[in-house]
Amino acid sequence: MAINDIFLEEIRDRNDIEDIVSSYVNLKRQGKILKGLCPFHNEKTPSFTVYPDTKSFYCFGCGAGGEVITFIRRIENLDFVEAVRFLAERSGLQMPEDGYDDSVAKHRKRLYAANREAARFYYSCLVSQGGKAGLDYLLGRGLTMSTIRHFGMGFAPDSWDSLIKHMNSKGFTNAELYDANLVKRSERNNKLTYYDNFRNRVMTPIIDLRGNVIGFGGRVLDDSKPKYVNTSDTLIYKKTNNVFALNFAKNGNPDSMIVCEGYMDVIALHQAGFTNAVASLGTALTREQAGLISRYTSEVILSYYADEAGQEATQKAIRLFDETGVRLRVLKLEGGKDPDEIIKKYGKERFRSLIDGAANDIEYNILKIRNKFDLKSSDGKVNFLSETAKLLAGCSQIEQDVYASRLANELGVSKDAITGEIRRQYARRRSGENKRRFEDIKRFAVSPKDEINPQRRDNVRAARAEDILLSLILNNPEFYNKIKDNISADIFATDFNRRVFEIISQRLENNESIELTFISSLFTPEETGRLAKFIAMRNEISNTVEECNDCINVLRQEHDKKNENNPADMSDEEFLKHFRKKSEVK
Ligand code: CTP
Ligand code: MN
Repeated sequence: MAINDIFLEEIRDRNDIEDIVSSYVNLKRQGKILKGLCPFHNEKTPSFTVYPDTKSFYCFGCGAGGEVITFIRRIENLDFVEAVRFLAERSGLQMPEDGYDDSVAKHRKRLYAANREAARFYYSCLVSQGGKAGLDYLLGRGLTMSTIRHFGMGFAPDSWDSLIKHMNSKGFTNAELYDANLVKRSERNNKLTYYDNFRNRVMTPIIDLRGNVIGFGGRVLDDSKPKYVNTSDTLIYKKTNNVFALNFAKNGNPDSMIVCEGYMDVIALHQAGFTNAVASLGTALTREQAGLISRYTSEVILSYYADEAGQEATQKAIRLFDETGVRLRVLKLEGGKDPDEIIKKYGKERFRSLIDGAANDIEYNILKIRNKFDLKSSDGKVNFLSETAKLLAGCSQIEQDVYASRLANELGVSKDAITGEIRRQYARRRSGENKRRFEDIKRFAVSPKDEINPQRRDNVRAARAEDILLSLILNNPEFYNKIKDNISADIFATDFNRRVFEIISQRLENNESIELTFISSLFTPEETGRLAKFIAMRNEISNTVEECNDCINVLRQEHDKKNENNPADMSDEEFLKHFRKKSEVK
């Protein structure tokens, strides 16, 4: 059972794709289409396209695509029914009473409720007699009651079942608590027992952009290991896709955001007035997190630890933020290992001045190279310059000019010599890049990787004909009746395209619409991207019935070629069938 077409049609009509996408993506009109930076991957030049006439979108960079419901599914991370409900609520429509499976939505709601209740429980423990150790720890680290309340911090008692008991009394089942990763379970003598995941730890809730508690980080009160226990991924929480404290930091549209390593750093920074601080969650920064942060600010100040691991993390973060196009500066933490320590030791003014003096990423990398060489020796100078030239070869003309002048002054070398070296390094880089590009092309030609339709790799010609045929039918459904006697699903070479054909031909046989809106529920959002591509392909095809038949002929040829392989291996029956089929083809 599914949500009926009439309702989906209403959802589509009341939620204009241009409006909806515009509230997430900055779109610019280009004739009949609109373009913007894709919200589903990091890019600097727009390849994300909205087609108001077909009510669809497609990104030529990452292959994301679909109609308005799929857009909401992906951007809000919802399942199909939840996305429809989201759009229904937005446009004042009442969801149909039944006819659809909303068990995922219901379960997700329960997990949000469980996390919220758990946060409430941990807070009440913190401020009660039993939580004294936790409260003393937090106050001892300089946090005020107001900060503790603002972040909703709490304390998990040193017990195996205090959370379970509390949550059971509030009506949550052990299975729900398990799915929220609030409890763990073990099996002994065929009997499942459940126990609290967080014990004797101060708790920091992780809150999503809509204000839902989605998980926790729990820190020990002393030096024992592991220092943190974190919620592992659940239906409502993906640690690689969320950013700690972004829910607070995004308020007031800050010009810049401070990205740090630890929860405690972020909390200390917010208390000191730097409410634009965020952190990744128990992992190194991910591409998704960099993308998310860059959507809320135009400048990022990296504030990682001064140790080796912190510096490695800085390099990785520089690369990831570089893909997003935000401005980047790197803080040099002087006099303390992390922001928390610096603020505690020297006060917030000191941290402010570090921010004001933070170098941009080029300066930061030049500094790092400088530390490797002894600039007093001419050898050291030469090596420093050639490595710096290599770095600058990857920068813009203006940057090259600015830094070449600076270095010339500083080192007493002529500017021409430095720009000459940069040019040489640039040429080397280019030839390396060309070689790599050629290799990519070769690899692509041999094995085009296609995650949606993996069989394309071994059926390149047939798959191409299938794509065009599906594009022709999706864009011109009226062609179907003219070609349907010439084609059956079994001549498709690839499973994915065959499935698409079966679904749309079934609907066309029933005189139902094959617009994306009505079929996207049958596909994953990634698969729907492929359908959107077929629709976007309509400018590359001739949109004639003849072209359909050309494709069908290619499919027949490829199909026969495959079956011809080994007539000797066929049973009599198979052989007859094969023989008959062959004589059908003109
Ligand atoms: N982290 C983790 N598990 C650990 C150690 C660290 O998940 N065993 C993650 C946490 O997200 C933590 C971050 O890495 O916030 C940085 O680690 P660390 O500096 O050790 O933690 P802080 O939160 O900064 O705590 P403290 O101020 O006590 O160092
Ligand atoms: Mn720390």
